[in-house]
Amino acid sequence: MAASDTVVVILAAGKGTRMRSELAKVLHFAGGRPLIELVVRACQPLKAAQILAVVGHQADEVTAVVTELDAQTVVQKPQRGTGHAVQVARRAMRRSAKIALVVPGDAPLLRAATLAALLDAHRRGDAAATILTAELDDPTGYGRIVRDAEGRVQAIVEESAATPEQRAIREVNSSIYCFTLEKLWPCLNALRPDNSHRELYLTDAIALLRQRNERVLAQAVGDSQQILGCNTRAQLADADRILRSRKATELMEAGVTIYLPESVVIDPEVTAGPDTVIEPGVQLLGKTRLGARCKIQTGSVLRDTRVDDDAAVLAHSILDSSRVGAKASVGPFSRLRPGSDVRAGAHLGNFVEMKNSVLREGAKAMHLTYLGDSTIGAKSNIGAGTITCNYDGVAKYQTTIGERVFIGSDTALVAPVRVGNGAYVAAGSTITHNVPAGALAIARGRQENKPGWAVKRLLAIKDSQRDKGRAKSKSRHRPARRRKSKSRRRVKSRR
Ligand code: UD1
Ligand code: CA
Repeated sequence: MAASDTVVVILAAGKGTRMRSELAKVLHFAGGRPLIELVVRACQPLKAAQILAVVGHQADEVTAVVTELDAQTVVQKPQRGTGHAVQVARRAMRRSAKIALVVPGDAPLLRAATLAALLDAHRRGDAAATILTAELDDPTGYGRIVRDAEGRVQAIVEESAATPEQRAIREVNSSIYCFTLEKLWPCLNALRPDNSHRELYLTDAIALLRQRNERVLAQAVGDSQQILGCNTRAQLADADRILRSRKATELMEAGVTIYLPESVVIDPEVTAGPDTVIEPGVQLLGKTRLGARCKIQTGSVLRDTRVDDDAAVLAHSILDSSRVGAKASVGPFSRLRPGSDVRAGAHLGNFVEMKNSVLREGAKAMHLTYLGDSTIGAKSNIGAGTITCNYDGVAKYQTTIGERVFIGSDTALVAPVRVGNGAYVAAGSTITHNVPAGALAIARGRQENKPGWAVKRLLAIKDSQRDKGRAKSKSRHRPARRRKSKSRRRVKSRR
């Protein structure tokens, strides 16, 4: 598609008052991306000579997103309406531009193919303007397409200015149009802010073009969902739901099983191999990549994490910037903080936290453990309640455990410390010195048994109770003041 005469103009300067937000509307997220990014991405395949975003509110932040995607920006300040925004865009347009495709920055569901078809219709129809329209069951909030007796587009009427008859029209303006620029400029210059917002409406250019006997076409979009504009939080939630459902469908078509897909949240860049199973309530975020035949159980949240073939993430595990090797398993209730690397066939069990650590092939840490800044060698076993004490309040230190090591339950490994290959550490040890390969380290208080201690104690208790009883019966006939000193004296004499 040759589009060297085409400029895409994205209108993204508005604040979005109806969002009731500090954040500019086009920076709100749907389907894991800012609205403006989704719109720019939908325009990219057109290969237009230029993609130009009109920015205003939080211009720097919006510009940062847009330039990342090789688009340009032009600043509209103050924002005096959609018509004014296109006027402002003119300043930054290439001279070769003959056709503008105008797109609002708050329509994240647009598809590139729809835009391409609109451009095509505009060229073939040799029109001054071609409007993308949609038939909506509920047209509330959108501008209505008013046609004349012959069915030709006459004007776009905003809801606030519409008569009751016009409000009943279900064909609406998507705010997506193609304009032949030499025909548009005189009409933009003629716009007047005679509406309740005192703005220059791009929509008014349509009636002006018709008054000049220019050709205005309308092309209806097949799938009206695509034109959804996110003016409110409710519309933002709708857009998010639809984008999430598109992503889930894409993965299911690629052979991934997703149970209750409406309950999972999957970011756009996530990939997953065939026969992987994703349970309800899972979130796969950022650049998470799942291999084939993986199992991701309910309630787990994975961000920027790679899970290799046949691995399992059991229920309610949280993984961030980590890796789970082939056939390894993690969870339930595991937490992998950034830099955790659970190698092939290794297992991490319930209530285990890991950070910046490697659990090598076939190693296990099954219960209630913290592994920070550590390396655990292949086939080693980390007992329940083991803690790497990696932080002294100032700096972090490394724990290095060799292969086939056995760390007994409730061991504290005070880093920096090394445990050699094949060594054993007795349960309950606090390890402060390196353990040589093959050695047994025991670092705990020695146990002492006191024979018969329990019976002696019991007799002592009974004795003292009997004495107390006697003291009470005697004291009934004495003044309360003296009772205390008397009984104390008696206890003393018995010792
Ligand atoms: C607009 C259309 C309406 C259409 C609807 C489709 C007008 C007057 N109305 O209404 O016919 O049915 O979109 O979603 O155009 N913007 C600027 N500069 C400004 C004002 C707005 O860049 O001075 C940007 C906004 O940031 C937004 C886009 O233009 O991305 C559309 O503005 P918005 O206020 O959302 O228009 P709607 O009321 O939705
Ligand atoms: Ca809008």
